[in-house]
Amino acid sequence: MGEKQAPLKEASNGPAIPPPQHRRRCGRGSSCDCCCLLKFLLKVIFTVAVLIGLFILIVWLIFRPINRVKLHVTDVVLTQFNHTDNILRFNLAANISIRNPNKKIGIYYDRIEARAFYADQRFGYQALTPFYQGHKNTSVLNVVFKGQQPLTLQGEELTQFNQEKTSGLYSIALELSLRIRFKLGKVRTVRFRPKIECDDLKIPLNGSPVAGSNNKCKLKF
Ligand SMILES: *[C@@H]1O[C@H](CO)[C@@H](O)[C@H](O)[C@H]1NC(C)=O
Ligand SMILES: *[C@@H]1O[C@H](CO)[C@@H](O)[C@H](O)[C@H]1NC(C)=O
Ligand SMILES: *[C@@H]1O[C@H](CO)[C@@H](O)[C@H](O)[C@H]1NC(C)=O
Repeated sequence: MGEKQAPLKEASNGPAIPPPQHRRRCGRGSSCDCCCLLKFLLKVIFTVAVLIGLFILIVWLIFRPINRVKLHVTDVVLTQFNHTDNILRFNLAANISIRNPNKKIGIYYDRIEARAFYADQRFGYQALTPFYQGHKNTSVLNVVFKGQQPLTLQGEELTQFNQEKTSGLYSIALELSLRIRFKLGKVRTVRFRPKIECDDLKIPLNGSPVAGSNNKCKLKF
């Protein structure tokens, strides 16, 4: 078997191997061309690698400060959450703390839009005042949603609402749409549009303010 296979391989590989003459020509006659081409290719590869590295570094430098921003809901107070005749009457106040832990990077919050959701439907909206957050600083955003809004709950949503009405603990989601810029020394970056999502907060009606641990918010792009 082995003896039979060996010649077969040679036969099939034969044509693919260039005749030895060509290799000699490249090695002796036009060795410079070959080397130059090789050097040129290496340079190109090296330059591309450096550029990719720089790009990754820049992206990392820009995104690291965002990912390190710490967020949580510090207080939530719900004093009204009444769903009657497909109208939701609500009064919800929350404090969301944002910590910028960076030593050198400041953050401009150029636009802050807060939204509140129940059963994936938006019922509250508030635009907050833009501000600048210095490095190593914590800011507290006060959001207040108060009023009434048509909100249709059907099937499971209605079942869930009635269950939550009994328990007095409502699953409400908060979302902040941001437009931010970073400041490093005198340099300001372009605008980014991240979102802060505080999903599935269990908020008690007329209860004591909800304490921190289960109220972590996530930053998304
Ligand atoms: C809910 O709102 C309706 C309509 O305003 C009102 O009649 C009802 O008393 C309210 N229920 C509660 C528990 O506040
Ligand atoms: C948010 O913080 C402010 C200032 O600390 C406080 O007066 C307010 O009652 C807080 N809001 C809530 C909903 O607890
Ligand atoms: C942090 O912010 C507060 C006001 O929000 C300001 O008084 C204070 O100077 C700031 N600290 C730094 C280090 O920027």
